[in-house]
Amino acid sequence: MFAKDALSYSAIPLPDRSEMTDDEMQAAALAFYDRMRTRHTVRDYIDRPVPRQVIEDCIRTAGVAPSGANHQPWHFAAVSAPELKARIRAEAEEEEKRFYAGGAGDEWIKALEPIGTNAVKEHLTVAPWLIVVFAQRWGEFDDGTRYKNYYVPESVNIATGFLLAALHHAGLCTLTHTPNPMKFLNEALGRPASEKPTMIIAVGHPAPDATVPAVAKIKKPLDQIASFFD
Ligand SMILES: Cc1cc2nc3c(=O)[nH]c(=O)nc-3n(C[C@H](O)[C@H](O)[C@H](O)COP(=O)(O)O)c2cc1C
Repeated sequence: MFAKDALSYSAIPLPDRSEMTDDEMQAAALAFYDRMRTRHTVRDYIDRPVPRQVIEDCIRTAGVAPSGANHQPWHFAAVSAPELKARIRAEAEEEEKRFYAGGAGDEWIKALEPIGTNAVKEHLTVAPWLIVVFAQRWGEFDDGTRYKNYYVPESVNIATGFLLAALHHAGLCTLTHTPNPMKFLNEALGRPASEKPTMIIAVGHPAPDATVPAVAKIKKPLDQIASFFD
């Protein structure tokens, strides 16, 4: 069991090694890229159930992400209970109505126009699972005293990336949904004030007539996202 106050340094031999030739590395890198570029944010789901074990294993993958001082400052609340999903949808749509009615500001609304989103969030009740990601701004020992967490947003966002990749790898579709603000999720899911919800990930299978916005397929080429100094 992870107990932050009972840890001290000791070294063990590197437990896992990958012994690949350059050709094998090249093939692996390309195969993963080919797999990941078939991930699309999906907003139209069917209610086909997804076994809890699959969700658990994908969250396990998120849990092996690197984190500041290995504090693992995240919590994933996985929801399939219909009444709780309905509550989350109702509260999220309240926030979204305010957002789209002017709360977001003109520039943000204009940026969302090519994505085609609006205040109706049907996926929150149709998708079989919602995984709500919480960032632990600080940690608490069993006696309630606090300890600091480090690089919390960076750590949680890396873990969330692992989670999205794991869900895609398992053949599932996702939607990273960020109602703004999201504080209602603490109360709905019984999470403490030390935790900040960062997103709701809807998870499931796509509807037969699911679409994606055409602009979402336009990704910046390598020379616009990377520079090399070799
Ligand atoms: C941090 C973050 C927040 C997002 N919030 C929303 C959202 O609230 N609603 C939504 O429909 N899509 C949301 N998206 C999905 C993006 O619109 C989507 O990733 C983008 O259009 C690119 O499409 P793709 O994921 O299919 O590549 C969000 C994505 C990220 C990374």
